[in-house]
Amino acid sequence: MNPLPRNPAPAPDFAELYGRAPEGEWAAPGRVNLIGEHTDYNLGFVLPIALPQTVRVEAARRDDGLLRVWSAQGRGPVAELRVADLVPGSVPDWTAYPAGVVWALREAGHEVGGADLRLDSDVPSGAGLSSSAALECAVATAYADLHGLGLAASDLALLAQRAENAFVGVPCGIMDQMASMCCRPGAALFLDSRDLSTRQVPVDLAGAGLALLVLDTRVKHDLGDGAYAALRAGCERAAELLGLPALRSLQPVGLAAALAGLPAELAPLVRHVVTENARVEAAVAHLDAGRLAALGPILTAGHASLRDDFRISCPETDLAVDAAVAAGALGARMTGGGFGGSVIALVDAAEAERIAAEVTAAFRSAGYAEPRTLTAVPAEGARRLR
Ligand code: GLA
Repeated sequence: MNPLPRNPAPAPDFAELYGRAPEGEWAAPGRVNLIGEHTDYNLGFVLPIALPQTVRVEAARRDDGLLRVWSAQGRGPVAELRVADLVPGSVPDWTAYPAGVVWALREAGHEVGGADLRLDSDVPSGAGLSSSAALECAVATAYADLHGLGLAASDLALLAQRAENAFVGVPCGIMDQMASMCCRPGAALFLDSRDLSTRQVPVDLAGAGLALLVLDTRVKHDLGDGAYAALRAGCERAAELLGLPALRSLQPVGLAAALAGLPAELAPLVRHVVTENARVEAAVAHLDAGRLAALGPILTAGHASLRDDFRISCPETDLAVDAAVAAGALGARMTGGGFGGSVIALVDAAEAERIAAEVTAAFRSAGYAEPRTLTAVPAEGARRLR
C-alpha cells in the first residue's frame, strides 16, 4: 500500500478544501535506523534517528462523526469516512492509516470523533523511511492534542502501531512509531523493545566531520506483502523451539548451542537477531565514547547479516552498499524492513558528494534507475507546529 503517492503540482489549502481554518498543524518525521533491524518484534534493541522529512497534518474537529481526509500527494477527492463505521479491513486504500489511528484511539476508550484532515509529506513513500509511521504518528499527535488526551509519546506510538497491525493489517514492530514519536534532534534513540525504555544517544555527525547518506534505491518495499510476516513468524517459532519468550533472551554466548538444535531454515534468522542486538550495543558504546567512525564496520557487518542470514536484501541494495564502500564510505547497510528501500552510508562529509556520485554511476552501469540521495541529520520527533 502506498500511503502518500507523490505529486509535485500546487495544491488547495485547508480553507479551500474545507471552507474554514484548521485548529492547528502537527508534524511527525520519517526515520532511518542506524542499526538493529528485525530486532524490534524479537523484543531487542534498535537505534533509529528521525529525519528532517515529515508528514504534516492540519486538522479541525467535526461534531457530526465524519472523518474527512485529503493528501497533497494523492490529490484525489476528499475522502469521507463515518467514524462509527470504522472496522479493520473496511478501508481499502491509504486512508486506512489515518482512519486506523482514529479507530485505535476509540478502541482504547478515548471518546474522539470526526475531523477534517489535510495531509502533506516530504517523506519518500515506499523507500523504507517509515512514511506510514510518520502519517500515523502525525494524526495520533494531532488527535491527542485536539482532544487533550494527555497521552505519553510511547502510548501514542503503541496506538499508532495498533492502527497498523490491526486496522491496516501490517504486522510491524514498534521501532518506526517510537522513532517518529520520541526522537530528538542531534541524537539517536536507543530503544529496548521489551519494555520501551529509551535513551537519547548524541550523534554529532558534523562535529566528527562525517555525514550519513541515504540512498533510496527506488526499489519499492512493501511490508504488506507477506514476506515480513513470514520472517516474524519464523523468529517467533524459533524462540518457541528454544523455550524462550523472545529471541532477545538469547545471548551471543549461547548462540552456537542454540543454532545446533534448530531446523536449517530457522538457524540463520536466529543468528541474525542475536548478532544484530550485539551490534546495536556495540554501536551505542562507540557513540557514547565519541567514536562515530567506528560505526562504519558495524553497519557493513549488519548488511552482510541481512543479506546472508536474514536474506532480505536485493541486488540494488547490495550494489548500493558495495559501491559506497568501494568509493570510500566507512560503512553502509540497507535500513528498514528490507526487499529494497534505502541504504545508509557513513562517509567523510567532504567525500559525501563524490561517494553519492559513484554509487549513482554504478547504478547506471548496472542498468538500474538512479537512486535518490538525501543527507540524514538527526531531527525532531512528532510535534505541534502551530
Ligand atoms: C519495518 C517495521 C519495523 C521493523 C523494521 C525492521 O520498518 O515497521 O517494526 O521491524 O521493518 O527492522
